[in-house]
Amino acid sequence: MPPDASRRSAHRRGFLRLAGGAAGAIGIAKAAWAADGGETLTVPEWSRAPGAPVASPPYGQPSAFERLGRRPRSVPAFPGAASTGTPLQHLHGIITPNGLHFERHHAGVPAIDPDRHRLAIHGLVERPLVLTMDDLVRMPAVSRIHFLECSGNTPWLGAKPTWTLQESHGLLSCAEWTGVELATLLDEVGVKPGAAWILAEGADAAGMTRSIPLDLARDGAILAYAQNGERLRPEQGYPLRLFLPGVEGNLSIKWLRRLKVGDQPFQTREETAKYTDLMPDGSARQFTFLMEAKSVITTPSGGERLGEPGFREIRGLAWTGRGRITGVEVSTDGGARWKAATLEGPVLPRCLTRFRLPWRWAGGPAQLLSRATDETGYVQPARATLVSLRGTQSFYHNNATFGWAVAANGGVSHAG
Ligand code: CO
Repeated sequence: MPPDASRRSAHRRGFLRLAGGAAGAIGIAKAAWAADGGETLTVPEWSRAPGAPVASPPYGQPSAFERLGRRPRSVPAFPGAASTGTPLQHLHGIITPNGLHFERHHAGVPAIDPDRHRLAIHGLVERPLVLTMDDLVRMPAVSRIHFLECSGNTPWLGAKPTWTLQESHGLLSCAEWTGVELATLLDEVGVKPGAAWILAEGADAAGMTRSIPLDLARDGAILAYAQNGERLRPEQGYPLRLFLPGVEGNLSIKWLRRLKVGDQPFQTREETAKYTDLMPDGSARQFTFLMEAKSVITTPSGGERLGEPGFREIRGLAWTGRGRITGVEVSTDGGARWKAATLEGPVLPRCLTRFRLPWRWAGGPAQLLSRATDETGYVQPARATLVSLRGTQSFYHNNATFGWAVAANGGVSHAG
């Protein structure tokens, strides 16, 4: 260790010893002044001359020093079928920036001209309609903040100690969605007696289709054309997508072009060959929509290396398709003892909720876990509990607790 660093480190230890009282209890002692052998303020080049002009570029971009990006989750099995994960470990608050929202495509991203795009609604309705985007934007609008999670998020099998949070939980994002409530449109066309299901169809080359129960369609579903204040990005369904809060992401059909009202489910490929859950007795659960309570620690998380021992804030995200999160508990010893974390408001229904807990890392091994409870009293299960009920072939809907092991050297990896 160079002498200066040694002196600074000695100073820091002194600060930490002194920091037992009320003031400075967090114990971060980076700011030693020059007189104490530390740093002083300089006048860097960016303070010496005017910076870049306004509106360069017209659509603002992150600082050149920020390098966040989505990353492909796997090699595509065939052209256009791919997904990318959100780098949740590097984000703050609850809103996912539009450029970092996770993607899942079954036949690539279509380039749709909004002036030529149409939404048809037909079937068991009194007044079938074909709508333009202008028609939709004129209708009464709502804006709501909701999470979106792929039911295939967090694989059941093949967990890797080297996983980052982006790899284990990245098919999860949260945004403000604006559009017309599907219930408004259903009232406008008049649903006929006997109607019970709606087929939603995308305009992508996969012709993505899912069946949606009518009561779910009336439970806050949005025909969304905007996300976080601007029109949808192409990869999020531009110019129009369905958004169904609290249920598996695949139901929120992107590039929405057709709604057909019927009296029974339509049994599409994506609800027969895919998106069903194989149980240990060989039966398959179908139409498992709800995303149950789940949470994960985002800081510290996989791939991180903690520096010196001392104060850390454990931070994470919790969410539930059933409504609001009411509590998150955190353990630093593998589940032997739990502490209630603080929930950061506002706590919104079917939305990400951020939690945090102050922690003093002693420098030794630790086993971090979080466990969410929602307003129905449902508690996020341990993996062993979930596996005892559903086996390991379900593939979808893994909402088990998820652990990060901190090694004595500060390295963080997935375990437990
Ligand atoms: Co499902």
